[in-house]
Amino acid sequence: MSELPTQLVDRFGRKVTYVRMSITDRCDFRCVYCMDEEMTFMPREKLLTLEEIVFLLKAFCELGVEKVRITGGEPLVRRNVDWLFDQIGQLKQNTSLKELTLTTNGSQLPKHAEALVKAGVDRINISLDSLDSERFKALTRTGELEQVLKGIEAAKQAGFKRIKLNAVIMKGRNEDEIIDLAEFAINNGMDISYIEEMPLGQVDHNRGESYCSSDEVLEKLQTRFDLQPSIASTGGPSRYYQMAGTDSRIGFISPHSHNFCSSCNRVRVTTEGRLLLCLGQEHSMDLRDIIRRHPGNMDKLKQAIVKSMDIKPEGHDFDIEAKPVIFRHMSVTGG
Ligand code: 5AD
Ligand code: SF4
Repeated sequence: MSELPTQLVDRFGRKVTYVRMSITDRCDFRCVYCMDEEMTFMPREKLLTLEEIVFLLKAFCELGVEKVRITGGEPLVRRNVDWLFDQIGQLKQNTSLKELTLTTNGSQLPKHAEALVKAGVDRINISLDSLDSERFKALTRTGELEQVLKGIEAAKQAGFKRIKLNAVIMKGRNEDEIIDLAEFAINNGMDISYIEEMPLGQVDHNRGESYCSSDEVLEKLQTRFDLQPSIASTGGPSRYYQMAGTDSRIGFISPHSHNFCSSCNRVRVTTEGRLLLCLGQEHSMDLRDIIRRHPGNMDKLKQAIVKSMDIKPEGHDFDIEAKPVIFRHMSVTGG
């Protein structure tokens, strides 16, 4: 135990204080930029169990991690998810965890919002790409706008510290709603981030044709709002602006046009417990294997996490050294 550090620091001196954890690859929507119409999901035995997720996050939060974001798929379709949030929320009392957040499509919030606030979820991000119900249906294939609007209302009532909307803007699909979506955010006292479409996974449209850059979105917004650059930073690939005269901030998530690798403070854990050290690279470590081969052994797990810091790449726009660091349990399957 004594050789375990209280902070995670990589070879480039970057402190890792933020973990994003995907708790399911399933979703009740089939957004066109995210999924194919027909999806094959992971067999249940490959997923980390809820108990394993808690164990894993405890390890991270005892190694100095301060912020955990639960993502998916749609996290709220996972069975017994309220229990999971309760357990993670308790880590705030006896570890370095300060902030617990969630990314959701909003459809299940009417059922879960209150329990989430009670469990200690501080902030949530809700995806909202259109305010037109037919269009919303076309973009999400199986989603109902009405249900998501109810979810947003439930989140407001439940009392999260902050709510942010996420909108993926696509040419020819919703780029004419850029301003309407910002107004919706302002009227509801929420923030909004515009996201550039990323080429993650196989989908059935041509991404090149639909791609809309953050600069184009910003230009459109400036025709209507007075945007003041904000110094607020989340340590991620986001830039923020304050909308003058309102409570709302506008963010731009631009993985294509901006590179913030030098201040990267985050790692990701996949649904199957694979630790990804960089979104744009394959460097990873199979933590599920370690948890299942050494059940209940917190030190073994922590040692693996500490060791993984050695393979966090400097960035994803250039190759550092060609020499790959090989790990025994390192999985090389795609991400
Ligand atoms: N490109 C950009 N954003 C995406 N999201 C899901 N897939 C993609 C993609 N390929 C968005 C969701 C959600 C956020 C977490 O990521 O809409 O708002
Ligand atoms: Fe993907 Fe999120 Fe849409 Fe579900 S709601 S299909 S996870 S982008």
